[in-house]
Amino acid sequence: MTAVMGEPSQAGYFGSFGGRFVPEALVPACMELEAAFSAAWADAGFHAELDLLLGSYGGRPTPVTECRRLSERLGIRVLLKREDLAHTGSHKLNNVVGQALLARRMGKQRLIAETGAGQHGVATATAAALFGMGCVVFMGGLDMERQALNVFRMELLGAEVRPVEVGSRTLKDAVNEALREWVATVDSTHYCLGSVMGPHPYPWMVRELQRVVGDEARAQCRELLGGSDPDWVVACVGGGSNAAGTFAGFAGSGAALVGVEAAGGAALSHGAPGVVHGMYSYLLQDEVGQISEAHSISAGLDYPGVGPEHAHLAASGRARYDFATDEEVLAAFRMLAETEGIIPALEPAHALAWVVRNAGTTIPEGACVLVTLSGRGDKDVAQVRDILRGPAGQLGDGQAGQLGEVRSVRPAEQEPAPRAEQER
Ligand SMILES: Cc1ncc(COP(=O)(O)O)c(C=O)c1O
Repeated sequence: MTAVMGEPSQAGYFGSFGGRFVPEALVPACMELEAAFSAAWADAGFHAELDLLLGSYGGRPTPVTECRRLSERLGIRVLLKREDLAHTGSHKLNNVVGQALLARRMGKQRLIAETGAGQHGVATATAAALFGMGCVVFMGGLDMERQALNVFRMELLGAEVRPVEVGSRTLKDAVNEALREWVATVDSTHYCLGSVMGPHPYPWMVRELQRVVGDEARAQCRELLGGSDPDWVVACVGGGSNAAGTFAGFAGSGAALVGVEAAGGAALSHGAPGVVHGMYSYLLQDEVGQISEAHSISAGLDYPGVGPEHAHLAASGRARYDFATDEEVLAAFRMLAETEGIIPALEPAHALAWVVRNAGTTIPEGACVLVTLSGRGDKDVAQVRDILRGPAGQLGDGQAGQLGEVRSVRPAEQEPAPRAEQER
């Protein structure tokens, strides 16, 4: 049995989930990457260079913010880990800077990436500019429309954004295209995968590169809470990298860990085990095993699968998983803006929405909750304006008043997340 958030097995499994399901041509590339990352991660020189860049360039450590007005509103104590304040506006840069350093060590001159919300694409384009590397980012056509600002940012940073116009024109199709491109260009190119998904070693490597979020947050919470940990630690889950990085810092604590997916992309609540994008994990699929389309207001969570370590954490019972509806997310998005002066990205607004819904019930009054605010909302403001704008082009009167009702909104069709292994 794998230790809680320890290293995966030699074949890349966390419990029953993970592995390396790739075409023959990519097996040596995955093995080369695994060896390179293992060596780098054991090398103090690599860590020193990474830490220096994350600090002087990336803006780390990001603070933990106490949310006084939101806490008063909800009757619980809410803390935010502020990844929205990292350079490029999300946690994605932590992973990318590490992979770009690794690519340089491996002698690769070009980065490719997939992106959904555009944040990982922007982070990759940023690192490519910083290291003087070529960069191509694959992005679904639908995501290019709803995240137009990030497309322009990537272009400004010198990257080529390649539209993917097949399937649902979202993240899963972009991953397929990036994997195809990697097969064709593997000698010169590093595939900078943006979450804890894909074939081994990516789920492990990306979690390790993101654990800085959880390690920092745990130390910061202890300082703030007089040596204690928060009672709950909550993060949104697309592929699952900000949640995995956060959970890694708290896996050995007594905190309850909660991952929140999008209602229309809830692989752990509504999916079943299967193979997608090189990994064995939970994914949304139809009765004959074809991958179903995900549907979410948030491009970053519009993904039908989930990283294999989350499937394992759900099965082992160490973390629980739930989902939030688009309606709940919009309400939480506005609530944070109005009570704290922080406009979150739509992705972490899912984690907030879960907290809002469960405050005073599942989360007892007075309990302390840490939410990872994985990114800022600038990229989403135009989309949210179009959704919320009334006929006169104004946000409807009284909407702030309606936000209190969000607690009682509960998706009717919810099914439980995978049960703990011992309960099966
Ligand atoms: C701000 C933000 N948070 C979360 C995510 C979801 O990714 P992950 O689950 O890997 O953290 C994204 C993806 O684009 C994002 O942009």
